[in-house]
Amino acid sequence: MSGAPSSGRDVFELGSEHEQVVFCNDRATGLKAIIALHSTALGPGLGGTRFYPYASTDDALVDVLNLSRGMSYKNALAGLDLGGGKAVIIGDPAEIKTEALLRAYGRFVQSLNGRYYTACDVGTFSEDMDHIARECDFVTGRTVAHGGAGDSSVLTAYGVFQGMRAAAEQLWGEPTLAGRTVGVAGVGKVGRHLVRHLVEDGATVVVTDVYAPSVEAIRSAYPEVQAVGSTDELVAGALDVYAPCALGGAISDEVVEVLSAKIVCGAANNQLAHPGIEKQLEERGVLYAPDYCVNSGGVIQVADELEGFSFERAQQRAAGIFETTRRVFELAKADGVTPADAADRLAERRMREVGRLRGIHLR
Ligand SMILES: NC(=O)c1ccc[n+]([C@@H]2O[C@H](COP(=O)([O-])OP(=O)(O)OC[C@H]3O[C@@H](n4cnc5c(N)ncnc54)[C@H](O)[C@@H]3O)[C@@H](O)[C@H]2O)c1
Repeated sequence: MSGAPSSGRDVFELGSEHEQVVFCNDRATGLKAIIALHSTALGPGLGGTRFYPYASTDDALVDVLNLSRGMSYKNALAGLDLGGGKAVIIGDPAEIKTEALLRAYGRFVQSLNGRYYTACDVGTFSEDMDHIARECDFVTGRTVAHGGAGDSSVLTAYGVFQGMRAAAEQLWGEPTLAGRTVGVAGVGKVGRHLVRHLVEDGATVVVTDVYAPSVEAIRSAYPEVQAVGSTDELVAGALDVYAPCALGGAISDEVVEVLSAKIVCGAANNQLAHPGIEKQLEERGVLYAPDYCVNSGGVIQVADELEGFSFERAQQRAAGIFETTRRVFELAKADGVTPADAADRLAERRMREVGRLRGIHLR
């Protein structure tokens, strides 16, 4: 590190809650990576490797610190014996991703001796995990051919659907979306599976995506699904449920103002555009199912690899997202806080009560 980040705050200040931050430099392959471990109170940190062309090392550092903190909360609330970790590789994967670079990265992950397990994220795929695993024992999200869980979006979508059922029960008394209109923004890997669950449950589904072939694929599989031209059009339309399944920041001031949906429940990470917006949702009578609570099916799926992957066992665990979301809503009511705050409280309670008292996790 060349001293304090340009934000003016040093690494210990920015990551004051974090246990360990590792900067990895391999000149031969051009690898520049940062691995952040937020908390190993519940076990080794598990979280994906994001491969992204960050504008600066500062941007990469801030991202990996936020993402690893988010994984502590997600893994804790999901009931996993795993802590929060995440990694970023700095650079454009289309230009610099090579077998040699991934293997160099694998050696750095190995050097942490099991305090951090990696997985796929933006810019990395199961095939990349197979390369990393040739140098490293601490890899999940591998291909099915190598005993891995494969595409984690299958159980991510299943978990979001379970969370949505819990929200429907909370608001309308029955845990079903039958007869409701659900708007899905983003029908990529997760969104398309979610549409299937919703159609099978008897919901009316409206979708949008900036990538036309994804919409066409949905429309040819489910001709009854309607499509609209943009997310703005979707959120301004008549909806019972809004499911953001594209990018973060989907719930902005503008969206809250026009939204007719009474439930927000989707797969996207970091949906709330800024702190405090969860209160605006509540004031408008919108029930928000916290993103990291309902989208934990993917990490549940890849974490199952640590026991030798069983899809049935992982699916059973992901079904528990229904009960967890229910508990979040119950605590929110009991404590008079928003569901977002209630989810944080439950995660923090588990880290505190179940977490190791003896300090950092060592194998
Ligand atoms: N894949 C997982 O297991 C998983 C797990 C947890 C959270 N998530 C989160 O869920 C979201 C979706 O993940 P995914 O794996 O399906 O990604 P994806 O890239 O396969 O799908 C995202 C889709 O959103 C579309 N999109 C992008 N910008 C859009 C916009 N402005 N309006 C409408 N559509 C837009 C893209 O064209 C794409 O089809 C992401 O935020 C991801 O971080 C995914």
